[in-house]
Amino acid sequence: MYKKIKLKDKKIENAINNELTRQKNHIELIASENYASEEVMKVTGSILTNKYGEGYPGKRYYDGCENVDKVENLAIERLKKIFNVKYANVQPYSGSTANAAAIAALVEPNGKIMGMSLSSGGHLTHGYGINFSGKFYQSFSYDVDERGLLNYDNILKLAKEIKPNLIICGYSAYSRTIDFKKFRQIADEVGAYLMADIAHIAGLIAAGVHPSPVEYAHIITSTTHKTLRGARGGIIMTNIDEIANKVNRWVFPGYQGGPLFHSIAGKAVAFNETLQPFFKEYGKQIVINSKAFAKEFQNFGAEIVSGGTDNHLFTINVKKSYNVTGKDASSILQQINITVNKNTIPNDQESPFVTSGVRLGTAAMTSRGFKEKEFKKLALIIDQALKNKDNKSILKGLKKQVLELTKNFPIKKSYWD
Ligand SMILES: Cc1ncc(COP(=O)(O)O)c(C=O)c1O
Repeated sequence: MYKKIKLKDKKIENAINNELTRQKNHIELIASENYASEEVMKVTGSILTNKYGEGYPGKRYYDGCENVDKVENLAIERLKKIFNVKYANVQPYSGSTANAAAIAALVEPNGKIMGMSLSSGGHLTHGYGINFSGKFYQSFSYDVDERGLLNYDNILKLAKEIKPNLIICGYSAYSRTIDFKKFRQIADEVGAYLMADIAHIAGLIAAGVHPSPVEYAHIITSTTHKTLRGARGGIIMTNIDEIANKVNRWVFPGYQGGPLFHSIAGKAVAFNETLQPFFKEYGKQIVINSKAFAKEFQNFGAEIVSGGTDNHLFTINVKKSYNVTGKDASSILQQINITVNKNTIPNDQESPFVTSGVRLGTAAMTSRGFKEKEFKKLALIIDQALKNKDNKSILKGLKKQVLELTKNFPIKKSYWD
């Protein structure tokens, strides 16, 4: 909850209360984070954590599941309604396990998968070498082109050479609209399945401000805690009967054991929020804010990867724009209570631990009520901090401005009304 807690365990109490202070007093720009409502957190911390129920509603290996069955069925029905899909599995513990189960449902071990490289904005689970997806499958990656954009001709060419069993689209750091129809045409042309991982843009799709992959992807995976603003976790959706059966078997017993009913309840409560008119407004505002934020950096002469944004995030090439690495930019901003993450840029010459970019996202601060005006102000603060990184008194003044903003835009307990 967004108030201090009291525990017998003082060490954990302190850590949580300090984290509360940090969340309140920092501007959160990590694109994968958000502020779940107190109702979401209440059910996530509820007695549902006590219950075991391996299996699915009506088909459990344990007794006493009549209440958790209701919770899981509500989560499934609400999710189906949000995205207009036939089948939904709400049990994945995370986006990563959702991807593991989804890939296994479509590709035999050692089959070929093709996803975007990490440095272009893909995710570890899309075929990265040290991840399960790069170890248990033959993985190949496509990149963005020199403009930082998806180039569908290049992707088709590569797909024709590789003949993958599965193509993965949907990313962690790509700021432009994804053309799911084109991806499906490519998949069809080479006889591959198409998986859309909408972990980042799910809330935007739900709000109708990014096209939906439902008509085109054989399988859709997502997290529930980024733009969807719910409890942490993963989900898998499909419209195809045989795939749905395989997905269910790969989630349990394939990759997971007992479902986390407290998390599933947190997802269900968040999905109900997603279905409300206020969520559509929220999604719209995230994108309006993101465009205004990126534009302001460009007005200051900074370079944005891909030249701008259509969604909730973008990456600034800080090496070129401010002559600092992503790692240093992130730690300078941390000194003035702004949290961002360092991020590789296409063809980055720096290592993933250093990077040349920082990724900024607007989902969390839009939840706190920021509009274009505040994001423009914030762009100026960040620009000034990176240009005056060694000037302690300027940084001190900027931190004061940040604290003023966090005070005027407190974390909301509820998004109803
Ligand atoms: C595109 C994408 N897929 C999957 C995931 C994995 O989600 P999780 O961290 O819940 O495992 C992420 C997380 O950042 C992501 O960005």
